[in-house]
Amino acid sequence: MGFPKDFVWGTSTSSYQIEGAAYEDGKGLSVWDIMCREPNTIWQGNTGDVACDHYHRYKEDVALMKKVGLGAYRFSISWPRVMPEGTAKINAEGLGFYDKLVDELKANGIEPYATLFHWDFPYELYHRGGWLNRQSSDWFAEYAGVVVEKLSDRVSNWITLNEPQCLIGLGHLDGIHAPRLKLPLSDVLLAGHNVLLAHGKAVQAIRSKSKGECRVGYAPVGVVVMPAAENEADIRAAREAMFSIVNKNCWNNTWWMDPVFLGRYPEDGLSVYGTDMPKIEPADMETICQPLDFFGVNIYQGSEVCMGPDGMPQELPKPVDCEFTAMGWPITESALYWGPKFFYERYKKPVIITENGMANADWVALDGGVHDPQRIDFLQRYLRALRRASEEGVDVRGYFLWSLMDNFEWTFGFNKRFGIIYVDYNTQQRILKDSAYWYRDIIASNGDALDETRHG
Ligand code: GCO
Repeated sequence: MGFPKDFVWGTSTSSYQIEGAAYEDGKGLSVWDIMCREPNTIWQGNTGDVACDHYHRYKEDVALMKKVGLGAYRFSISWPRVMPEGTAKINAEGLGFYDKLVDELKANGIEPYATLFHWDFPYELYHRGGWLNRQSSDWFAEYAGVVVEKLSDRVSNWITLNEPQCLIGLGHLDGIHAPRLKLPLSDVLLAGHNVLLAHGKAVQAIRSKSKGECRVGYAPVGVVVMPAAENEADIRAAREAMFSIVNKNCWNNTWWMDPVFLGRYPEDGLSVYGTDMPKIEPADMETICQPLDFFGVNIYQGSEVCMGPDGMPQELPKPVDCEFTAMGWPITESALYWGPKFFYERYKKPVIITENGMANADWVALDGGVHDPQRIDFLQRYLRALRRASEEGVDVRGYFLWSLMDNFEWTFGFNKRFGIIYVDYNTQQRILKDSAYWYRDIIASNGDALDETRHG
């Protein structure tokens, strides 16, 4: 059977990680621009000031997307590039970049999937309280309206925001990502609630301002739990563990998905967070739970459980022969079977994998090529698992490989290479890795070539 005939094959990137031009053409500062100035925060002091210089090289990069045969491309829009202070004033040159990018994509037959927010929050709004300020949802809706007004005659696929678990967990609880806050849980949950409100109001803005048909989704992290064995007890344990909240942190699924798709916070989360819960206005949950067209989700890995003797899920340690990527993430391909399966069961929306891929120790070989058989093997394993889910009835609509090109991997800087295109950061030369040619053949065959075992 294979993948559906209209399956969407793409790659993903984000504005801060590839664009550069951090101080050009009227762009405002983001919290990541500021964080990169702080010593000892980013690997070797790397910054997104230049990154992959995509802002100037977008035509070359779209030509490479065409060479790979991408059907779609997920990128994000830099809020402070479009609105330097985050609200009110529009930077025509900044918005003009995305106007030109979208035209280039459409001219090359590549469908744009625009993410409105992928962490590069306007620094001016940070000074006004950032996500702690309930007004943040109005600021975000205003920005969404400006972008949709400009691009929706050509852009039909919208993703409101990327990975609230990281944005809030890493950025406001753990202090690891920008704006590097270590807030009390009550403030973290308030910021999280305002982010969910912002999502809901952005969906309303997209639907009211869109000049054509629009499909809207959202891209949380999928925290996947897989059964150790495919028996009824372990499967029940995995499903239970995947949709429960036991810790006072942000690393879960339901706190970020149930409000958006079911219109309520999960009961177990309410009891775990208890008095740290923010004040919720009567209409908030209705605002957050706007109808969506797909369930976007970023999945890289999963953990394994069996049903314990006490009738509770019991997490199993990684098997001794478990392999890891250059990020130290375990290679657990069945996460791309169980994740879509369990999410589809619970939220009953078509599934789009908005991110999946791996960091690898890639380099330019003596023959001038970049040979990445590990990435090909990784992708073959994960895509076969996704295909199984699709063949068993999960409505999987698309797959966006993270990432199109090597890029700024947040606190790891340029040390981690996720791209199927190699970037020489000294010369900005792009080199298609073997995985790019492999992915081209996967796309051309709509996944049928997955059954050929080749590594180059
Ligand atoms: C994420 C972000 C991406 C990362 C990628 C690799 O999922 O953390 O969406 O920006 O770069 O996932 O970590």
